[in-house]
Amino acid sequence: MAPIEHLYFHIPFCPKKCPYCCFYVEEGSRNKTTAFVDALILELEKASRSYSIRPKTLYFGGGTPTSLLVDQWEHLLAKLQRTLDLSTLEEWTVEANPATVRPEKAMLLAQAGVSRISLGIQSWNETTLKTLGRVHTANQAFKTHETLQNAGFPEINIDLMFSVPGQTLPMWESDLETTLRLAPSHVSAYCLTYEEDTEYFEKLTGGQFIQNEELDAQLFELTMERLISSGYRHYEISNYAQTGRDSKHNRAYWEGRNFLGFGPSAFSTLPNERTQNVCDTAAYTRRMLAGEDPVFSREVLTEEIRLKERIAFGLRMDEGLESAILAPWESSVIHFEELGLVSRDASRIRLTHRGKLLADSIAEAFV
Ligand SMILES: C[S@@+](CC[C@H](N)C(=O)[O-])C[C@H]1O[C@@H](n2cnc3c(N)ncnc32)[C@H](O)[C@@H]1O
Ligand code: SF4
Repeated sequence: MAPIEHLYFHIPFCPKKCPYCCFYVEEGSRNKTTAFVDALILELEKASRSYSIRPKTLYFGGGTPTSLLVDQWEHLLAKLQRTLDLSTLEEWTVEANPATVRPEKAMLLAQAGVSRISLGIQSWNETTLKTLGRVHTANQAFKTHETLQNAGFPEINIDLMFSVPGQTLPMWESDLETTLRLAPSHVSAYCLTYEEDTEYFEKLTGGQFIQNEELDAQLFELTMERLISSGYRHYEISNYAQTGRDSKHNRAYWEGRNFLGFGPSAFSTLPNERTQNVCDTAAYTRRMLAGEDPVFSREVLTEEIRLKERIAFGLRMDEGLESAILAPWESSVIHFEELGLVSRDASRIRLTHRGKLLADSIAEAFV
């Protein structure tokens, strides 16, 4: 097997669980310990003995990796640098929440070689931030952004969310304009998803929140219009980047490349298998320190699963898919072409502007 080039580390701690979020996270600091950091490194050391690892991208996500305290980061970074050869590294991302970044932490990460911060702003509007149950204000988010710039990170991504209950077109336009004034290298603009087992899902099914597909489409159109006209390339349905500043890690993931995930709930994808670690920080730490396996589920990656994923992710990318992949569905392709939802050139098929609004339903027709 070729060396593994993409590593993900799941840091499951957040200052407060947001009511719309379905990631595996923990509030508070009970399990946020040096033992947890040691467990992560033990898992990495174990993987280094089993696989050849030559990292091109590292991604610390969560949760909120910046929830770790400065001394916990120091411990983690020292051990990481001792375990991994980082000489081939091209991108190192750390996700951050505006409530959890102080200048000392930002400087530590920048000096260690973190090249990209992904900052969860979500909105600059105080009402939207309250609706989302965020722990930070817009003012705090501005200050954190300034702190990150001063620390000298070469790339900063800003995460935004639209279709939030109560959000109007002018409110979203103002969020986009404020973001553009900061000229981030990358913007992720996510349409709110009502995920099962979240407070938001209960409010939707209980009738307290109502979805408005027409407004969702207008918000998405406005996002594309404002960001593309400001020089960002819409390289994936929810992602926009300045030239050459796509997320290399996420691109590898969408292209179905092999990667290893560390930490509770983290997935690893290998040529024939996908595994997931146990979604429980205390159990994960205990298992690692006892020399046990942290994996709790395994799925065989058949050709059929690989193909489905390639189609679903490929359609979301601006370069689209090679036409040959969709050859078995030629009549559906013609149908979508007639509806103006897909277009093709000599070798590739991609979604049109209108098709992007219906990306998931279109992908379902092929898989
Ligand atoms: C794992 S979070 C990382 C950032 C950090 N934890 C924070 O929230 O500030 C990644 C991003 O996913 C997005 N996200 C989370 N839940 C979502 C949902 N239900 N619908 C749409 N986007 C969501 C948010 O934009 C969030 O910033
Ligand atoms: S959105 Fe971010 S801060 Fe909120 S619970 Fe999810 S991971 Fe944590």
